[in-house]
Amino acid sequence: MAFDRHELDLSKPDHIRRAIRDVQPNVIVNAAAYTSVDQAEREETQARIINVDAPALMAEEAKKIGAALVHYSTDYVFDGSKNLPYDENDPPSPINVYGKTKLAGEEAIRAVGLPHLIFRTAWVYGTKGRNFLLTILRLATEREELRIVRDQFGAPTWSHEIAKGTARVLRQLSQLDREAISKFGDIYHMTAAGKTSWCEFAKVILEGASRMPRGITWFETATKGQPLVTRRVVGITTEEYPTPARRPFYSVLSNSHLKQDFGLELPDWSLQLRAVFAEGRING
Ligand SMILES: NC(=O)c1ccc[n+]([C@@H]2O[C@H](COP(=O)([O-])OP(=O)(O)OC[C@H]3O[C@@H](n4cnc5c(N)ncnc54)[C@H](OP(=O)(O)O)[C@@H]3O)[C@@H](O)[C@H]2O)c1
Repeated sequence: MAFDRHELDLSKPDHIRRAIRDVQPNVIVNAAAYTSVDQAEREETQARIINVDAPALMAEEAKKIGAALVHYSTDYVFDGSKNLPYDENDPPSPINVYGKTKLAGEEAIRAVGLPHLIFRTAWVYGTKGRNFLLTILRLATEREELRIVRDQFGAPTWSHEIAKGTARVLRQLSQLDREAISKFGDIYHMTAAGKTSWCEFAKVILEGASRMPRGITWFETATKGQPLVTRRVVGITTEEYPTPARRPFYSVLSNSHLKQDFGLELPDWSLQLRAVFAEGRING
């Protein structure tokens, strides 16, 4: 059973309680969050309600009925000062309100002490919603030149791969006996392999876009059926693109814990992007 914002508004505790009591799930997957990184700087209270209070209440309600909670968190729990992939033992040190609220959400879930999985992911995109892939495709129909940040590094991750990875982990856990499941609780990094910058990511998106056939629904929607007009992608520094929220310069996450416990490795970011264009008919 899935809920959208109209059926279950996470800012309303009674909605959360009612949904969990009515459905009596075995597992709750919370993919919702307050994700407007810049807006969070001036809407900290709202961001906390959705990113901390809501998952905390979900965890408490889930514990009461013996359910497990799967929750997503972010690379932005780190400050980006490292230049080797972060693992789950690296101390978090968020540098913006969004990152602080997501970290507090993780801590709140862990404090409840129910079976849980927290997947930290990064640079998520897909063929629906609002994300970097769709923004670049729109801009590519509007501007001859794109100026994109070249000094922030991460691993763009297709939402479809996160969903597949989550399902695979849940399938493996479902093989465990009840006692082992009841004791389970951990954080795992789940991102694409490899590393790139926003600027490089934009260039590869435009390469893929230039080879797209007509008639692919998500692509036609993203470009409004207009021709691509971008001729140049220029790399700029973070300093040249000031934003209300600071972003980590480096947020590559090591996925070795995920590989060790579940044998799971997500493909390299460039292969994932290629698959989005090749298999674009799959909903991202
Ligand atoms: N995007 C990234 O680059 C990224 C990176 C690292 C981690 N993550 C994490 O991955 C998870 C998924 O992120 P995403 O990129 O898919 O975010 P998204 O596209 O912004 O989606 C967030 C979802 O949360 C829903 N939501 C927000 N406030 C709500 C409320 N009050 N009640 C009910 N639903 C509400 C939104 O509903 P509406 O559609 O109605 O607004 C939306 O469907 C989040 O935990 C996020 O922190 C994302």
